[in-house]
Amino acid sequence: MRLIVVGFGNVGRSLLSVMMEQARDLDERFGVEPKIVAVLDSKGGAVDSKGLNMRELLETDTKEGTVAATPKVGQFGLTPLSVIGDVEADIVLELTPTNPVNGEPGISHIEKAIRNGKHVVTTNKGPPALAMRRLQRMASQNKVLFRFSGTVGGGTPILEFTKKTSEADEVQSLRAILNGTTNYILTQMHDANISMDEALSQAQRLGYAEKDYSLDVNGIDPALKLTIIANYALEREISFKDIRITGIADIRLEDVQNHKRERRKIKLICSIDDELSVAPVPVEAAQPICVDGSLNSVQLRTKYIGETTLVGPGAGGLQTATAILSDLLYIHQTRSQGNEA
Ligand code: HSE
Repeated sequence: MRLIVVGFGNVGRSLLSVMMEQARDLDERFGVEPKIVAVLDSKGGAVDSKGLNMRELLETDTKEGTVAATPKVGQFGLTPLSVIGDVEADIVLELTPTNPVNGEPGISHIEKAIRNGKHVVTTNKGPPALAMRRLQRMASQNKVLFRFSGTVGGGTPILEFTKKTSEADEVQSLRAILNGTTNYILTQMHDANISMDEALSQAQRLGYAEKDYSLDVNGIDPALKLTIIANYALEREISFKDIRITGIADIRLEDVQNHKRERRKIKLICSIDDELSVAPVPVEAAQPICVDGSLNSVQLRTKYIGETTLVGPGAGGLQTATAILSDLLYIHQTRSQGNEA
């Protein structure tokens, strides 16, 4: 399985670490041998059709701040579009940061990959939130797969949980905590009585926050995720613009502490029922949806099951790396069964 990795931040680096650790397992259990034939970051890239040395890439990136400095195979100025078009590979991993305005450059990378007959796995929320149907159509026309499990829930399979539930049952409403950074901030304000700014710095150090942290704090990141869930898992036709969004910027420590006395916690809740919204809401601390730290949760109310909730880590490089592996295995298994798309 030859891979091109576009974007080498926290998630990309974590993916390489997990792949190195799991290499034997992936081979023995699934017959999968991931080979990275190209890696790109904002300064350039490294290419080797025989497969790059993952340890060397990580070491070079740590020391030099770019994979372009990798001896012999590195090249400054290399661009994703040229590599996606020119380098032979099976799958493109699009791991660049989310742009909520127009999804670029992620959408262009993905379109190029699909046109070149390459499967795509992305953790970038922009493309599936802003152009899901178009990219799905294009992938199907080109007989490749387009997967994005890591865009929602980090390693927690929120998309598949919701999709599976909605296939056999009727999901009447959904409530969810979909942003690890703001949940961590609100938890720290509640438990440790610290300011929002201090808690945000901690969340950034822990690798939860987006490169542009205002996407977390202003509720844009969870709204993109809600759009992806609605379109992919619930098969609704909704646009990001349909969501009423309020972030946590105006929440004061005092508000959090006042609710604490009443055994409630302020949480940034994403909802789908009569309308779509993201807003801070006081929630009874005993509710299953009311999880802490960087955890995410999704609670579905359905016609037959009743109420069902999934909880798990919603952010973090290693966690998100497992979602990528799961998509790679999905592609491998679908291809070996002869179902191209
Ligand atoms: N910034 C995101 C979060 C990362 O905090 O949930 C995971 O999508």
